[in-house]
Amino acid sequence: MSGPMTMYLYIHDAILREVDDMEARARELNRDDPDEIAAFKDQYDLFHNLVKVHEKSEEDFLFPALNERIAFVAETYLYDHNDSDEHIFADIAAAFDALAHASGNGDRKAAARNLWREKAVLNEMMRLHISKENELMMPHFETEFDLSEQAEMAGAMAGSVDPQTMGQFVAWMYGGQTAQDREGMIRFLQMILPPEAFGGMTGMLKGLGDAEWAEMEKRIPDLADG
Ligand SMILES: [Fe+2]
Ligand SMILES: [Fe+2]
Repeated sequence: MSGPMTMYLYIHDAILREVDDMEARARELNRDDPDEIAAFKDQYDLFHNLVKVHEKSEEDFLFPALNERIAFVAETYLYDHNDSDEHIFADIAAAFDALAHASGNGDRKAAARNLWREKAVLNEMMRLHISKENELMMPHFETEFDLSEQAEMAGAMAGSVDPQTMGQFVAWMYGGQTAQDREGMIRFLQMILPPEAFGGMTGMLKGLGDAEWAEMEKRIPDLADG
């Protein structure tokens, strides 16, 4: 990946990986284990918060800028965001709640099946929405906006996220990435963040796993010098 909107595409990759993972997790879920259900709910809550942050940055910056140049592009994507809030995210919240409160094996079985079904719906909806953003919308964006405008957009979107949430976002993405994508993301952050913020970010990522970080130091020798 390259170009000013690299991070945007990494975020999309991370969302797609997570919805796929959650569908598989819902299928395998031990419906009799409240701790496992609670851990799954935590995974989902973090995902949901981060998706909302991502969508807000699209709605506040990317969509209005696109709309000024090409009418009736951005609003179709906004429509997806709003529709999924009402239908999919609300239904998943209800499905988790039903599973947490189900009593008796039959009820728990039905509630767990329903949660799995909702996760499959989320997976497919996100796959389509993000494919459209990557394959239909981004080429328009790249044609309409020159490189400095793209960089300005990437900066505005990233700058709208508070540092703590940004740290959560990067940690979440790093956790599921291949070594190659981790390297790409770190190199990109190194380019856009002030040195102090980059140092804070790498310190946090280093704490997520020694073997993973050793691999990053091998790939990006400056990291070991810092
Ligand atoms: Fe979107
Ligand atoms: Fe998106």
